[in-house]
Amino acid sequence: MSTDHSAKVQRDAEGRLRHLITLDGLSRDEIVALLDLAQFYARTPGELAARDQTLAGHTVANLFFEPSTRTRVSFELAAQRLGADVVNLDMQSSSRVKGETVLDTIYTLQAMQADILVMRDAEPGLPAYVAKYVAPHVCILNAGEAHLSHPTQGLLDALTVRQTKGDFAKLKILIAGDLSHSRVARSAWHAFTTLGVAELRIAAPEDLMPGKDEFKGATRFTDIDKAISGVDVVMTLRIQRERMSGASIPDEATYHHTFGITADRLAKANKDAIVMHPGPMNRDVEIASAVADGPQSVIQRQVTNGVAVRMAVLATIARNVQARRHFQ
Ligand code: NCD
Repeated sequence: MSTDHSAKVQRDAEGRLRHLITLDGLSRDEIVALLDLAQFYARTPGELAARDQTLAGHTVANLFFEPSTRTRVSFELAAQRLGADVVNLDMQSSSRVKGETVLDTIYTLQAMQADILVMRDAEPGLPAYVAKYVAPHVCILNAGEAHLSHPTQGLLDALTVRQTKGDFAKLKILIAGDLSHSRVARSAWHAFTTLGVAELRIAAPEDLMPGKDEFKGATRFTDIDKAISGVDVVMTLRIQRERMSGASIPDEATYHHTFGITADRLAKANKDAIVMHPGPMNRDVEIASAVADGPQSVIQRQVTNGVAVRMAVLATIARNVQARRHFQ
């Protein structure tokens, strides 16, 4: 199923976002509005969390068919901080394992009046498929779809860049690592290009470089030392072995040596460049431990922003549902 299809399915008849499945097709204004709202909800660690009752009376169900720590917990906290009831389904022991279809699981939750279903799954096209069958008041939020899309991660990455580096029109951003299997990279590409980044570079070993029909407008590198020179933002990615069949990838030490973000490599970027990683990190593989914990790392800030962005997405989607009800 194409992302183009997801871009259409996620809107209601009036063109409002009803689900969030992909950043594909979101306008600059829509993304900026989500980032602005997320900034309103953002707090620095140690401050009390923003809380309101925007989602009071709503039930958010987290359905993660793939492992997750950051994304699942931050959706849960985001929903709670907006006053929703939250249920987390343990999908390893769910009915799907017993042969129930995903749609039947969804209908079961819908019958219990869950309104917002947050889904992560390895099957491409599943969120858009499910979105077509749910009741009018039910929304689907994609929390990671195969290698294709991870819209809230793209938004939190954009928020982190905006907070720390400012105007996208002045920035050179590098996304480096296992691009071919990365939904994080695909959603970041949508966000950064829509926000008008001055230059986007992608760097991957030959075997992990996506086809030319993807990441349009980005400059491609297979040499990380060339790619990193003079950039303002370095986003590095985990090698996703669980999505590989047959790709020849070097052992961890060789990968670190030829492609890892080390302190020496980082010295080739702009002096005040930031380093990002979506997590989970493989320390001393795609990123040197010292860089991950170093002064240029904004990895913890990305995690903090994850909650704020998910609050913004939940609040926006819920507001759009209310608006639809109002006019029906
Ligand atoms: C990523 C994911 O699951 O797509 N993690 C995340 O959501 N923060 C990246 C990864 O698994 O490498």
